[in-house]
Order: sequence, then C-alpha cells, then structure tokens
Amino acid sequence: MDTPYQAAAGVHVLPSNLPIPGVGVLPINAYVIHAEQPVLVDTGLAMESEGFLDALASVIDPASIRWVWLTHDDADHTGNIARVFELAPHATLVTHGFAALRLSSVWPGALDRVRAIRVGDRLHVGDRTLRAVAPPLYDNPMTTGLLDEATGTLFSVDSFGALLSEATRDAGEVPADALAEGMLAWATADSPWAHILDRQRYGAVLEGIRRLEPTSILSSHLPAADGVPTERFLRILERVPDAEPAIAPSEAEFAHMLATIHGGQAPEPTPVAPVAHHVG
Ligand SMILES: [Fe+2]
Ligand SMILES: [Fe+2]
Repeated sequence: MDTPYQAAAGVHVLPSNLPIPGVGVLPINAYVIHAEQPVLVDTGLAMESEGFLDALASVIDPASIRWVWLTHDDADHTGNIARVFELAPHATLVTHGFAALRLSSVWPGALDRVRAIRVGDRLHVGDRTLRAVAPPLYDNPMTTGLLDEATGTLFSVDSFGALLSEATRDAGEVPADALAEGMLAWATADSPWAHILDRQRYGAVLEGIRRLEPTSILSSHLPAADGVPTERFLRILERVPDAEPAIAPSEAEFAHMLATIHGGQAPEPTPVAPVAHHVG
C-alpha cells in the first residue's frame, strides 16, 4: 500500500501497486471523494487490509463515509468492503444490483444497505451529483463508472488503466510511448474481446466519453495524470481493437512468473508438450 495523495480537487487516491513479474506493476486505486456526504470508490486489496484502512483513515474519518460506490465486484475492488462497512456504520453500498447479489455470496452484508444503481442514474451526495456512466472497456458486466458533475472528474473503473514498468504518482511523467504501450497492454488483457468490436460503434462509444468533457480521468488502474489531456487518452483507446489481442501465459510461462514472485532464481521457460483437446 502506498501513501495517499490528492488526485483531483476534493479527491484523494488510496494507491497500491500490484507487482506483475516480467512487466512491472498494475496500479490499483480506490478513491475518496470529499463531498458533503463523503464517498469511497472501491475498497482496495484484501492482502493489504491494514495498510488500506490506515491509508483511508489518514484522509478521512471512516465513520463519516456516507456512500461506498463499488464500481464492480472484482477482487481488486472489493478487498476490504466488509471491514469498511464495520467502520462506516452510516454508509450505503452503491453498485449494480447484480454485483451486490454476487458479492453477497462472499459477504452477506452486501444486501443489507444497498442502493442499486445503473447507467444514467444520479446519486446526490449533498453538494454535488454523481452520474453513473458506462466506461468504454471493462472486464465485468456489472461495471458502473461515475462522473462528478460538479467537477467533471470521470472515474473510469478499469478503462484507461495501464501496466507500468514502475510505480509512479503521476502518469504524466511516464514517457508518452511507454504510457501508450502500457495502456494498450492493459486494455487488451482486461478486455480481451476488444478486437471483435465494430470499429464504428466503438468509435461512437468513445465519442460519448468525449462529449462528457471530463476535466480529468481517474482510472482504477492508472496513477493520476495531471496535465495529460483527455484527448490523448482517447486516442490511445481508439487503437485497442486493432492491437494484438492478449494471450494467457502458458503453464511454463506462469511457472516462470511464480518463481520470480517467490524471489527464487527464475528458470528459463521450458517448452511444454501440447495438450490434446477433445471436442464433442
Ligand atoms: Fe475489473
Ligand atoms: Fe480492476
């Protein structure tokens, strides 16, 4: 767990960086929106529970959190949800109804204080309104992003994320080519269906994001990018359907990654005999 920092006006990021052997890191962010009714967007990694809760408490009194906006029920977003709700007795869970249902299989509390939301809905949080929006790319059909209509900040969930060679606080400091490459690598891995997209329809979806005129885009998987124009991000995402689709690591390649994680000497990947596939 890294040290929280301000990501936009009235927004703190609770940042983490998951090491990806042979690649670098995947940034994993939760956000605190300091609205009149404070909002926590996602709940970090369970493996960093104490660090996450300390980071949260360093930017806000957890008991004052009124809304927990869960963008989707993937493990890198739900990690500390039960602990957060213990600390935030007045919080309501805001999420896709089916995400709450599925989450209830591992955390029954998901159905106790839930406000189901879908794209187009608005949540009034005192001094501002959050609009539920659909990010252009996603890995989970329950994905629900949000636009802070008061500030124009777009929380884009897994969209606009990147695999990076090292942890940083400012995506704007990553060389342009490396950032584009990292974003394409992440997008093709996280949305492996992107290459089957109808280019024209996908273009219209990106145009929809452009029309939102976000003042900043805060991805769950990218450090804050102060000074990087939205248009530059959109141009990178335009390339995703034509990028090389990501391929899962082979058994040998993954064993190699594991060896690196465990700190041992990473063996050279060994070729494995092809597995016979039986059809029918
Ligand atoms: Fe996801
Ligand atoms: Fe994610």
